[in-house]
Formats: sequence, structure tokens, C-alpha cells
Amino acid sequence: MSGFGIHRLPRIVRGQGSYVFDATGKRYLDGSGGPAAFSLGHAHPEINAAINEQLSGFAHGYRYLFTTDALEQLTLVVKERCGGHFQDVIFCGSGSEAVEGALKTALQYFAARGLMRKRRFIGRRRSWHGNTLGALSVSDFQERREAFEGSLLDVAFVSAANAYRPPPGVSSGELTRYLADELDQAIERLGPETVAAFIFEPIVGAAGGVVPAPEGYCRAVREVCRKHDVLMIADEVMCGAGRSGAWSASEHDGAMPDIMCIAKGLAGGYIPLGATLMTADIAAPILEQHGAYQTGHTFTGHTAACAAGVVVQRVIARDRLLERVRIHGARLKEQIREILAGFDEVGDVRGRGYFIGIELVCDRARKTPFPSQRRLSLDVGARCFEDGLICYPCSGNVDGTNGDTVIVAPPYNASDSELEEIVSKLARGIRSALSHSAA
Ligand SMILES: Cc1ncc(COP(=O)(O)O)c(C=O)c1O
Repeated sequence: MSGFGIHRLPRIVRGQGSYVFDATGKRYLDGSGGPAAFSLGHAHPEINAAINEQLSGFAHGYRYLFTTDALEQLTLVVKERCGGHFQDVIFCGSGSEAVEGALKTALQYFAARGLMRKRRFIGRRRSWHGNTLGALSVSDFQERREAFEGSLLDVAFVSAANAYRPPPGVSSGELTRYLADELDQAIERLGPETVAAFIFEPIVGAAGGVVPAPEGYCRAVREVCRKHDVLMIADEVMCGAGRSGAWSASEHDGAMPDIMCIAKGLAGGYIPLGATLMTADIAAPILEQHGAYQTGHTFTGHTAACAAGVVVQRVIARDRLLERVRIHGARLKEQIREILAGFDEVGDVRGRGYFIGIELVCDRARKTPFPSQRRLSLDVGARCFEDGLICYPCSGNVDGTNGDTVIVAPPYNASDSELEEIVSKLARGIRSALSHSAA
């Protein structure tokens, strides 16, 4: 997120459930869980108790000397939530590290098989995978790449999988086939013997403004990857760990990847935690040939973060919050659609679960974006913020520069009245920004 009013940021002093408070006492409803991270809101007593209990024992069980209860428990929980599809879980401290770990695991896998020419990655247009050099290299987010161009990996990009903005001349019925064929041709062009992995977000987050894959897309690219012995990496850092109403978005799409990345909501945003998950087929040659994954860090599997993750996942299951996210998410999207129905500038309202994107356009029929200089999404974000609602504005989803979207991603345990407050304040913020732009 580019941020707004960055030099005049309010000082946050306290949180309570879906609300945070600044030093002046002003209250903000966290309608986007910060950057889609605070899955259970703030100051949750059970999460804080678990962290405190862990830290009162020891600082961190250094992964290369010890195992810990928290690490083992969370490993089991994550594997179980993914239906037993993955064999190993490597914990880390962020989404970028989870992606970095995924890219490196793909390379290590082919190295272990003696296929040292398989070094290249294919990413997608309008994607975001993180700020480390590897993760940034596979991302197509112009504003965030610009300063580093020339030092990034040589990555090939295929089209975004966006039903609202398909490639020119491609009908919605043809979209999935077109995109799968495009990936197939990209691999053929590079030479399948040189391609290690294809990385994508099953539901695009910040770079697209919540863009779920078209029906059948994930299964189709799964087949293309399998055909060419190319690994499929699903980046579920933003859309995973329950945010879409299924624990993993890939599960909903009916195509599980070889490697998956999660982070953000995994430990509710209380302590940084991410993870790279890989199947037994990926793990086996690596462990046989090299004995270990070569992607660890000092704080890999940080004990207090894993303890937070265990309790976050326990609360989500105990309180049946994924069911809530599914049911109330569909209703929330409908309510946002309804309240914004009178605005010609609302081009699309989309998403799944508590991961909803609103795209604003200056010509709805032509889907023409507002000029980037208008900074409309940031303006909406700033006006909502002023009014006590945190949402997540994103820019550049159309062509890297133009395009305005706003993401809504509330905590899974937000109350009905909090969801209503999100809808009304969001509409107020959009109305205010648009009337300003018309003036
Ligand atoms: C899909 C996706 N992948 C990776 C990242 C990077 O995660 P982090 O900011 O925790 O490093 C993000 C962050 O927004 C993301 O949305």
C-alpha cells in the first residue's frame, strides 16, 4: 500500500476487537484487518495469553537446535487444514520470505533431481509476491519494481487471470482456455527444460484489487504445469489461512499446488509468521539428496509466533469462523453492491469470503480507469480513514499505473453491526471522494 498522509500518521495506542484507537482517542474500525492480516482483530485475550505463556518460558527455540510444542502443533494444524496435501512446512517471518522459500525450494528440488537448467520462473501480470529481490522479481507491480529494475531475476510474465479485464478480444467463455494455452506457449517458448515454476495468486490481492481466478483456471494451469514438469506455486499470503472462506483458496479452486505460501492471517498478525508448504513429491528428492531445505533463517519457526498461530487456528475452528466468513462474506459483498449500485463509477464488486474488492472506473461501459494523477483509491482510503474506517486502497491494477481499487477484509470475528458500519462508511468515503473528483 502506498500509504496516505504518511508524515502525519496518527499514533495507535490501543486495540479492542475490530477497533483500534489513536492517542487522541479517535476510534477506527479495522475494515481491512490492516493489510488483510488481523484475522481475529486486536487484543484477543486468548492469543495474548498464549504468547505471554510462551515467552515466560523461553525466548525462541532455535530451529536448528530444538523442536518445540508450538512448532509441532502448528505444523500438524496447517497440514490438516490443507487436507493432508502437504508433507512439510517451513515457517518464516513474512509473506516475502514464504515466497522466497517457495522459489528456492523449487530450484533446490530440480537441483536434487540433477536438472540444473530448470532455473526460470514464470509469473503473471498485475501480481504481488513481496519485497525481497526474488519475490519482487516474480511480481508485476510497476511502482514497487521501478527502483530495482536491472537487478531483478529474468522472469517471464503471462496475462493476469481477470474476468472483468480479459485480454482484448477474449470472451468470458474462452478466458480459461486462452490463459492456459498462453502459459503452455510461454513454457514452450522458454523451453520446458529451463522452467522451474509458475507462481500465481489464486485470488490476486494488492496488485489487482481482489481478483479471483475464473472458473476452471487453476485446474487448467495445474495440467499445463504437470505436462511440462514445471512446479505450480500458489501464493496464498493474502487470500489464504481462511480469508476466502475456505482455509485455502486453492482448495476452493479444486487444484492444489506443489508449493504453497501463507502468512498474514496465519498468526492473526500478532507476531510475524509465514510458511512455505511442499508436497511429499517435492520434499523427497530434496531430503534424499541434500538432507535439508536450504532456506532457513535465525527466526524460522519462531516459537511465540507459532504459539500465536496455534491459538488463532484453534479459535477459528472452535468458533466456526470459516463458516461465518463464507456466509457473511457473500452477504457483505451483496450489501456493498447494493449500497454502491447508484454510482456509475463502481465498475466491479468481486471477491470471496472476507476478501472483497471494489473497482472504480470513470466510464463503466468502457471500464476506463480514472487518470492516475487523481489518486482516487488513495483519496477514498484517506476519507474513510478520516471517518474512522480502515480500508485498503490499491492503485495501478489496470496497466501498472492507472486503476483504482479498494479492498475490504474484516476480521473473521467482526460482529454484524461492525460489518454494517463498514458498508455505510465505505459508501460515504466513496461518495465523498467521487463528488470531490467531479468538482
Ligand atoms: C500475495 C502476497 N504475497 C506476498 C506478500 C508479501 O508479504 P509480506 O508483506 O508479509 O512480506 C504479500 C503482501 O502483501 C501478498 O499480498
